[in-house]
Amino acid sequence: MKLTHRAQHAEPFHALAFGERAAALEAAGHRVVKLSIGEPDFGAPPAVREAMRAVMDGRPLPYTPALGLPALRTAIAGFYRDRHGVEVDPARIAITTGASSALLLATAATTEPGDEVIIADPSYPCNRELVTSFGGTLVTVPTTAASRYQLDAASVEASWSERTNAVMIASPSNPTGTSIPFPELAAICDLARSRGAWRIVDEIYLELADPDRDGSPARSVLAADPAAVVIGSFSKYFGMTGWRLGWAVLPEPLVAPVERLAMHYFLSASTPAQYAALAAFTPESLALCEQRRLELVARRHLVLDGLAALGLPVPVRPDGAFYVYIDVSGTGLDAWTFCERALDSVHVALTPGRDFAAATADTHVRLSYAASADELTEGLSRLGTFLTSLG
Ligand SMILES: Cc1ncc(COP(=O)(O)O)c(C=O)c1O
Repeated sequence: MKLTHRAQHAEPFHALAFGERAAALEAAGHRVVKLSIGEPDFGAPPAVREAMRAVMDGRPLPYTPALGLPALRTAIAGFYRDRHGVEVDPARIAITTGASSALLLATAATTEPGDEVIIADPSYPCNRELVTSFGGTLVTVPTTAASRYQLDAASVEASWSERTNAVMIASPSNPTGTSIPFPELAAICDLARSRGAWRIVDEIYLELADPDRDGSPARSVLAADPAAVVIGSFSKYFGMTGWRLGWAVLPEPLVAPVERLAMHYFLSASTPAQYAALAAFTPESLALCEQRRLELVARRHLVLDGLAALGLPVPVRPDGAFYVYIDVSGTGLDAWTFCERALDSVHVALTPGRDFAAATADTHVRLSYAASADELTEGLSRLGTFLTSLG
Protein backbone atom coordinates (compact mmCIF):
# COMPACT_ATOMS: atom_id res chain seq x y z
CA MET A 1 0.00 0.00 0.00
CA LYS A 2 1.29 3.43 -0.81
CA LEU A 3 1.07 6.81 0.79
CA THR A 4 0.26 9.81 -1.36
CA HIS A 5 2.97 12.26 -2.26
CA ARG A 6 1.12 14.95 -0.30
CA ALA A 7 0.98 12.82 2.83
CA GLN A 8 4.64 11.90 2.62
CA HIS A 9 5.86 15.38 1.91
CA ALA A 10 3.67 17.56 4.16
CA GLU A 11 5.95 19.73 6.27
CA PRO A 12 5.42 19.56 10.03
CA PHE A 13 3.91 22.67 11.64
CA HIS A 14 6.86 23.44 13.93
CA ALA A 15 4.89 25.85 16.16
CA LEU A 16 2.72 22.92 17.23
CA ALA A 17 5.73 20.65 17.61
CA PHE A 18 7.43 23.20 19.90
CA GLY A 19 4.11 23.51 21.77
CA GLU A 20 4.15 19.75 22.33
CA ARG A 21 7.74 19.84 23.57
CA ALA A 22 6.69 22.61 25.94
CA ALA A 23 3.77 20.48 27.17
CA ALA A 24 6.15 17.57 27.78
CA LEU A 25 8.40 19.82 29.88
CA GLU A 26 5.36 20.94 31.86
CA ALA A 27 4.31 17.33 32.40
CA ALA A 28 7.80 16.77 33.82
CA GLY A 29 7.13 19.52 36.39
CA HIS A 30 8.72 22.59 34.73
CA ARG A 31 6.97 25.94 34.46
CA VAL A 32 7.12 26.83 30.78
CA VAL A 33 6.34 30.26 29.35
CA LYS A 34 4.50 29.45 26.14
CA LEU A 35 4.91 32.17 23.54
CA SER A 36 4.89 29.80 20.59
CA ILE A 37 1.19 29.53 19.79
CA GLY A 38 -1.25 32.23 18.70
CA GLU A 39 -3.94 31.67 21.29
CA PRO A 40 -5.35 34.60 23.27
CA ASP A 41 -5.53 33.68 26.95
CA PHE A 42 -8.93 35.40 27.37
CA GLY A 43 -11.23 32.62 26.21
CA ALA A 44 -14.66 33.21 24.70
CA PRO A 45 -16.76 36.16 25.94
CA PRO A 46 -18.96 35.15 28.92
CA ALA A 47 -22.18 35.46 26.87
CA VAL A 48 -20.82 32.90 24.40
CA ARG A 49 -19.94 30.49 27.21
CA GLU A 50 -23.38 31.00 28.74
CA ALA A 51 -25.04 30.35 25.37
CA MET A 52 -23.03 27.13 25.03
CA ARG A 53 -24.21 25.98 28.47
CA ALA A 54 -27.81 26.78 27.50
CA VAL A 55 -27.66 24.79 24.29
CA MET A 56 -26.27 21.78 26.16
CA ASP A 57 -29.64 21.09 27.82
CA GLY A 58 -30.12 17.70 26.26
CA ARG A 59 -31.82 18.88 23.08
CA PRO A 60 -30.81 17.08 19.92
CA LEU A 61 -28.07 18.93 18.09
CA PRO A 62 -28.39 17.85 14.46
CA TYR A 63 -26.17 18.94 11.60
CA THR A 64 -26.81 22.46 10.42
CA PRO A 65 -27.00 23.20 6.68
CA ALA A 66 -23.57 22.68 5.10
CA LEU A 67 -22.95 26.42 4.79
CA GLY A 68 -24.02 27.00 8.38
CA LEU A 69 -26.78 28.18 10.65
CA PRO A 70 -28.78 30.83 8.77
CA ALA A 71 -28.95 33.06 11.88
CA LEU A 72 -25.17 33.00 12.26
CA ARG A 73 -24.59 33.79 8.58
CA THR A 74 -26.96 36.75 9.01
CA ALA A 75 -25.16 37.87 12.18
CA ILE A 76 -21.78 37.83 10.40
CA ALA A 77 -23.26 39.80 7.48
CA GLY A 78 -24.58 42.31 10.06
CA PHE A 79 -21.09 42.59 11.54
CA TYR A 80 -19.61 43.46 8.12
CA ARG A 81 -22.35 46.06 7.66
CA ASP A 82 -22.06 47.65 11.11
CA ARG A 83 -18.31 47.58 11.51
CA HIS A 84 -17.05 47.84 7.95
CA GLY A 85 -19.91 49.50 6.09
CA VAL A 86 -19.92 46.59 3.64
CA GLU A 87 -23.09 44.85 2.45
CA VAL A 88 -22.69 41.09 2.19
CA ASP A 89 -25.58 38.80 1.31
CA PRO A 90 -25.68 36.18 4.12
CA ALA A 91 -26.12 33.60 1.34
CA ARG A 92 -22.48 34.28 0.39
CA ILE A 93 -21.18 33.38 3.85
CA ALA A 94 -20.03 29.83 4.56
CA ILE A 95 -19.57 28.85 8.21
CA THR A 96 -16.62 26.51 8.60
CA THR A 97 -14.60 24.55 11.12
CA GLY A 98 -12.24 27.42 11.83
CA ALA A 99 -10.56 29.55 9.20
CA SER A 100 -8.50 26.44 8.49
CA SER A 101 -11.46 24.74 6.80
CA ALA A 102 -12.42 27.95 5.02
CA LEU A 103 -8.91 28.05 3.55
CA LEU A 104 -9.16 24.37 2.63
CA LEU A 105 -12.50 24.89 0.87
CA ALA A 106 -11.31 28.04 -0.90
CA THR A 107 -8.18 26.26 -2.15
CA ALA A 108 -10.09 23.12 -3.12
CA ALA A 109 -12.54 25.20 -5.14
CA THR A 110 -9.96 27.30 -6.95
CA THR A 111 -6.65 25.41 -7.35
CA GLU A 112 -5.75 22.54 -9.61
CA PRO A 113 -2.57 21.09 -11.08
CA GLY A 114 -0.71 23.63 -13.18
CA ASP A 115 -2.15 26.65 -11.37
CA GLU A 116 0.27 29.09 -9.80
CA VAL A 117 -0.58 30.78 -6.52
CA ILE A 118 1.32 33.85 -5.40
CA ILE A 119 2.08 34.03 -1.70
CA ALA A 120 4.44 36.12 0.44
CA ASP A 121 7.58 34.77 2.09
CA PRO A 122 7.15 34.74 5.09
CA SER A 123 3.53 33.64 5.48
CA TYR A 124 1.18 31.23 7.25
CA PRO A 125 2.53 27.71 6.56
CA CYS A 126 -0.79 25.90 6.09
CA ASN A 127 -1.54 27.90 2.95
CA ARG A 128 1.57 26.54 1.26
CA GLU A 129 0.57 23.02 2.19
CA LEU A 130 -2.98 23.50 0.91
CA VAL A 131 -1.85 24.83 -2.46
CA THR A 132 0.58 21.98 -3.04
CA SER A 133 -1.95 19.39 -1.79
CA PHE A 134 -4.26 20.36 -4.63
CA GLY A 135 -1.44 20.21 -7.16
CA GLY A 136 -0.93 23.96 -7.38
CA THR A 137 2.50 25.52 -7.75
CA LEU A 138 3.59 28.00 -5.12
CA VAL A 139 5.15 31.22 -6.26
CA THR A 140 6.63 32.54 -3.04
CA VAL A 141 7.63 36.16 -3.22
CA PRO A 142 10.54 37.17 -0.98
CA THR A 143 9.62 40.26 1.00
CA THR A 144 11.71 42.61 3.10
CA ALA A 145 11.30 44.81 6.13
CA ALA A 146 10.84 47.73 3.71
CA SER A 147 7.52 46.27 2.53
CA ARG A 148 6.67 45.21 6.10
CA TYR A 149 7.23 41.60 4.98
CA GLN A 150 4.10 41.83 2.85
CA LEU A 151 3.26 41.65 -0.83
CA ASP A 152 2.77 44.83 -2.79
CA ALA A 153 1.34 45.33 -6.26
CA ALA A 154 4.78 45.67 -7.85
CA SER A 155 6.06 42.38 -6.40
CA VAL A 156 2.84 40.59 -7.39
CA GLU A 157 3.11 41.96 -10.92
CA ALA A 158 6.76 40.87 -11.13
CA SER A 159 5.79 37.33 -10.08
CA TRP A 160 2.88 37.03 -12.49
CA SER A 161 2.78 34.41 -15.22
CA GLU A 162 0.12 33.17 -17.60
CA ARG A 163 -0.52 30.33 -15.14
CA THR A 164 -1.18 32.61 -12.14
CA ASN A 165 -4.55 31.61 -10.77
CA ALA A 166 -4.70 33.20 -7.32
CA VAL A 167 -3.01 35.53 -4.89
CA MET A 168 -3.18 34.43 -1.24
CA ILE A 169 -2.77 37.15 1.34
CA ALA A 170 -3.07 37.42 5.11
CA SER A 171 -3.46 40.97 6.38
CA PRO A 172 -2.61 41.34 9.23
CA SER A 173 -0.12 38.57 8.75
CA ASN A 174 1.18 35.66 10.72
CA PRO A 175 4.16 35.56 11.59
CA THR A 176 4.94 39.28 11.36
CA GLY A 177 1.76 40.86 12.72
CA THR A 178 1.86 43.45 9.92
CA SER A 179 -0.90 44.67 7.61
CA ILE A 180 -0.80 45.71 3.98
CA PRO A 181 -1.78 49.39 3.71
CA PHE A 182 -5.34 49.45 2.40
CA PRO A 183 -4.60 51.26 -0.90
CA GLU A 184 -1.83 48.75 -1.64
CA LEU A 185 -4.14 45.83 -0.85
CA ALA A 186 -6.74 47.34 -3.17
CA ALA A 187 -4.07 47.70 -5.88
CA ILE A 188 -3.02 44.05 -5.57
CA CYS A 189 -6.65 42.96 -5.80
CA ASP A 190 -7.28 45.25 -8.81
CA LEU A 191 -4.32 43.75 -10.60
CA ALA A 192 -5.35 40.14 -9.88
CA ARG A 193 -9.00 40.78 -10.73
CA SER A 194 -8.15 42.49 -14.01
CA ARG A 195 -6.16 39.39 -14.97
CA GLY A 196 -8.89 36.96 -13.97
CA ALA A 197 -7.21 35.52 -10.84
CA TRP A 198 -8.75 34.77 -7.45
CA ARG A 199 -7.95 36.94 -4.46
CA ILE A 200 -7.99 34.86 -1.27
CA VAL A 201 -7.59 37.29 1.61
CA ASP A 202 -7.27 35.99 5.15
CA GLU A 203 -8.62 38.64 7.53
CA ILE A 204 -8.76 36.56 10.70
CA TYR A 205 -6.70 39.19 12.56
CA LEU A 206 -8.41 42.20 11.00
CA GLU A 207 -10.44 43.12 14.08
CA LEU A 208 -7.23 43.23 16.12
CA ALA A 209 -5.59 45.65 13.70
CA ASP A 210 -4.86 49.22 14.71
CA PRO A 211 -7.58 51.63 13.59
CA ASP A 212 -6.93 54.18 10.87
CA ARG A 213 -5.55 57.57 11.90
CA ASP A 214 -9.11 58.95 12.07
CA GLY A 215 -10.04 56.21 14.55
CA SER A 216 -12.18 54.21 12.13
CA PRO A 217 -11.69 50.42 12.24
CA ALA A 218 -9.13 48.83 9.94
CA ARG A 219 -10.93 48.18 6.66
CA SER A 220 -11.97 44.86 5.18
CA VAL A 221 -10.73 44.15 1.66
CA LEU A 222 -14.41 43.73 0.74
CA ALA A 223 -14.70 47.52 0.72
CA ALA A 224 -12.33 47.57 -2.27
CA ASP A 225 -12.96 44.17 -3.82
CA PRO A 226 -16.46 42.81 -3.13
CA ALA A 227 -15.68 39.64 -5.11
CA ALA A 228 -12.58 38.64 -3.11
CA VAL A 229 -12.70 35.39 -1.15
CA VAL A 230 -12.42 36.60 2.44
CA ILE A 231 -11.54 34.34 5.35
CA GLY A 232 -12.70 35.10 8.90
CA SER A 233 -12.57 33.31 12.26
CA PHE A 234 -13.92 33.22 15.77
CA SER A 235 -10.51 32.04 16.99
CA LYS A 236 -8.58 35.26 17.56
CA TYR A 237 -10.64 38.44 18.16
CA PHE A 238 -13.39 36.42 19.83
CA GLY A 239 -10.89 34.25 21.75
CA MET A 240 -12.45 30.98 20.60
CA THR A 241 -9.53 28.96 19.17
CA GLY A 242 -10.67 25.55 20.38
CA TRP A 243 -14.30 26.10 19.41
CA ARG A 244 -13.24 25.57 15.79
CA LEU A 245 -15.43 28.07 14.06
CA GLY A 246 -14.69 30.39 11.17
CA TRP A 247 -16.16 31.53 7.89
CA ALA A 248 -15.56 32.44 4.28
CA VAL A 249 -17.23 35.26 2.38
CA LEU A 250 -17.52 33.89 -1.13
CA PRO A 251 -18.04 35.57 -4.47
CA GLU A 252 -21.33 34.40 -5.98
CA PRO A 253 -19.83 31.85 -8.45
CA LEU A 254 -18.10 30.00 -5.61
CA VAL A 255 -21.13 29.59 -3.34
CA ALA A 256 -22.67 26.46 -4.89
CA PRO A 257 -19.32 24.69 -5.54
CA VAL A 258 -18.11 25.39 -1.99
CA GLU A 259 -21.44 24.20 -0.62
CA ARG A 260 -21.06 20.88 -2.46
CA LEU A 261 -17.48 20.45 -1.24
CA ALA A 262 -18.46 21.40 2.32
CA MET A 263 -21.20 18.76 2.27
CA HIS A 264 -18.69 16.07 1.34
CA TYR A 265 -15.80 17.26 3.47
CA PHE A 266 -17.57 18.27 6.69
CA LEU A 267 -21.41 17.96 6.51
CA SER A 268 -21.45 21.04 8.75
CA ALA A 269 -19.43 22.93 11.33
CA SER A 270 -20.13 22.17 15.01
CA THR A 271 -23.81 22.84 15.74
CA PRO A 272 -23.46 23.90 19.42
CA ALA A 273 -20.50 26.13 18.65
CA GLN A 274 -22.54 27.85 15.93
CA TYR A 275 -25.48 28.49 18.29
CA ALA A 276 -23.15 29.79 20.99
CA ALA A 277 -21.28 32.03 18.54
CA LEU A 278 -24.46 34.04 17.96
CA ALA A 279 -23.78 35.62 21.36
CA ALA A 280 -20.40 36.92 20.11
CA PHE A 281 -22.24 39.71 18.30
CA THR A 282 -24.14 41.20 21.23
CA PRO A 283 -23.07 44.77 22.12
CA GLU A 284 -21.65 43.48 25.44
CA SER A 285 -19.51 40.80 23.78
CA LEU A 286 -18.25 43.21 21.15
CA ALA A 287 -17.41 45.82 23.79
CA LEU A 288 -15.44 43.19 25.70
CA CYS A 289 -13.57 42.12 22.58
CA GLU A 290 -12.62 45.76 21.96
CA GLN A 291 -11.25 46.00 25.52
CA ARG A 292 -9.25 42.88 24.84
CA ARG A 293 -7.90 44.35 21.61
CA LEU A 294 -6.61 47.30 23.64
CA GLU A 295 -5.09 44.93 26.18
CA LEU A 296 -3.27 43.21 23.31
CA VAL A 297 -1.94 46.59 22.16
CA ALA A 298 -0.59 47.14 25.68
CA ARG A 299 1.05 43.70 25.58
CA ARG A 300 2.57 44.56 22.20
CA HIS A 301 4.25 47.63 23.73
CA LEU A 302 5.43 45.61 26.71
CA VAL A 303 7.05 43.05 24.42
CA LEU A 304 8.57 45.55 21.98
CA ASP A 305 10.07 47.57 24.84
CA GLY A 306 11.32 44.41 26.54
CA LEU A 307 12.94 43.05 23.39
CA ALA A 308 14.56 46.41 22.68
CA ALA A 309 16.02 46.41 26.20
CA LEU A 310 17.41 42.92 25.55
CA GLY A 311 18.97 44.08 22.27
CA LEU A 312 16.84 41.72 20.17
CA PRO A 313 15.80 43.57 17.01
CA VAL A 314 12.26 43.48 15.63
CA PRO A 315 12.76 44.84 12.11
CA VAL A 316 9.05 45.61 11.59
CA ARG A 317 6.65 46.57 14.36
CA PRO A 318 3.38 44.64 14.23
CA ASP A 319 0.17 46.63 13.77
CA GLY A 320 -2.46 43.91 14.06
CA ALA A 321 -1.85 40.23 14.67
CA PHE A 322 -0.33 39.44 18.07
CA TYR A 323 3.08 38.37 16.79
CA VAL A 324 6.54 39.86 16.66
CA TYR A 325 9.07 38.51 14.21
CA ILE A 326 12.44 38.83 15.91
CA ASP A 327 15.82 38.85 14.19
CA VAL A 328 18.06 36.62 16.30
CA SER A 329 21.00 36.50 13.88
CA GLY A 330 23.04 38.79 16.17
CA THR A 331 23.07 36.13 18.89
CA GLY A 332 25.29 33.82 16.85
CA LEU A 333 22.62 31.10 16.87
CA ASP A 334 20.44 30.09 13.98
CA ALA A 335 16.73 30.50 14.65
CA TRP A 336 16.06 26.81 15.18
CA THR A 337 18.88 26.39 17.69
CA PHE A 338 17.81 29.61 19.42
CA CYS A 339 14.30 28.18 19.91
CA GLU A 340 15.54 24.77 21.02
CA ARG A 341 18.00 26.21 23.51
CA ALA A 342 15.56 28.84 24.84
CA LEU A 343 13.07 26.06 25.49
CA ASP A 344 15.52 23.63 27.04
CA SER A 345 17.49 26.08 29.17
CA VAL A 346 15.01 28.75 30.32
CA HIS A 347 11.74 27.06 29.33
CA VAL A 348 10.47 29.73 26.97
CA ALA A 349 8.66 28.37 23.91
CA LEU A 350 9.02 30.33 20.66
CA THR A 351 8.56 29.36 17.02
CA PRO A 352 11.44 29.25 14.53
CA GLY A 353 11.17 31.11 11.23
CA ARG A 354 11.40 27.81 9.35
CA ASP A 355 7.64 27.43 9.76
CA PHE A 356 6.90 30.54 7.76
CA ALA A 357 9.74 31.45 5.52
CA ALA A 358 12.67 30.60 3.30
CA ALA A 359 14.52 33.93 3.38
CA THR A 360 14.25 34.47 7.14
CA ALA A 361 14.00 30.79 8.15
CA ASP A 362 17.33 30.74 9.93
CA THR A 363 17.48 34.30 11.19
CA HIS A 364 14.05 35.02 12.69
CA VAL A 365 11.81 33.60 15.40
CA ARG A 366 8.16 34.38 16.10
CA LEU A 367 6.95 35.37 19.54
CA SER A 368 3.21 35.43 20.22
CA TYR A 369 2.11 38.13 22.66
CA ALA A 370 -1.33 36.60 23.10
CA ALA A 371 -0.15 35.36 26.53
CA SER A 372 -0.90 37.37 29.68
CA ALA A 373 1.23 40.40 30.63
CA ASP A 374 2.64 38.42 33.58
CA GLU A 375 3.67 35.58 31.32
CA LEU A 376 5.21 37.98 28.85
CA THR A 377 7.18 39.73 31.60
CA GLU A 378 8.42 36.40 32.91
CA GLY A 379 9.28 35.24 29.38
CA LEU A 380 11.28 38.40 28.68
CA SER A 381 13.18 38.07 31.95
CA ARG A 382 14.05 34.44 31.14
CA LEU A 383 15.14 35.41 27.64
CA GLY A 384 17.45 37.94 29.29
CA THR A 385 18.99 35.13 31.37
CA PHE A 386 19.32 33.02 28.23
CA LEU A 387 21.05 35.77 26.27
CA THR A 388 23.47 36.39 29.13
CA SER A 389 24.30 32.68 29.17
CA LEU A 390 25.27 32.96 25.51
CA GLY A 391 27.90 35.49 26.51
C1 LIG B 1 -3.13 33.59 9.20
C2 LIG B 1 -3.91 32.46 9.80
N1 LIG B 1 -4.93 31.92 9.09
C3 LIG B 1 -5.66 30.91 9.58
C4 LIG B 1 -5.41 30.37 10.83
C5 LIG B 1 -6.27 29.25 11.34
O1 LIG B 1 -7.21 29.76 12.24
P1 LIG B 1 -8.45 28.94 12.79
O2 LIG B 1 -8.20 28.70 14.25
O3 LIG B 1 -9.63 29.84 12.60
O4 LIG B 1 -8.58 27.68 12.01
C6 LIG B 1 -4.37 30.90 11.61
C7 LIG B 1 -4.07 30.35 12.95
O5 LIG B 1 -3.21 30.76 13.66
C8 LIG B 1 -3.61 31.97 11.08
O6 LIG B 1 -2.60 32.53 11.77
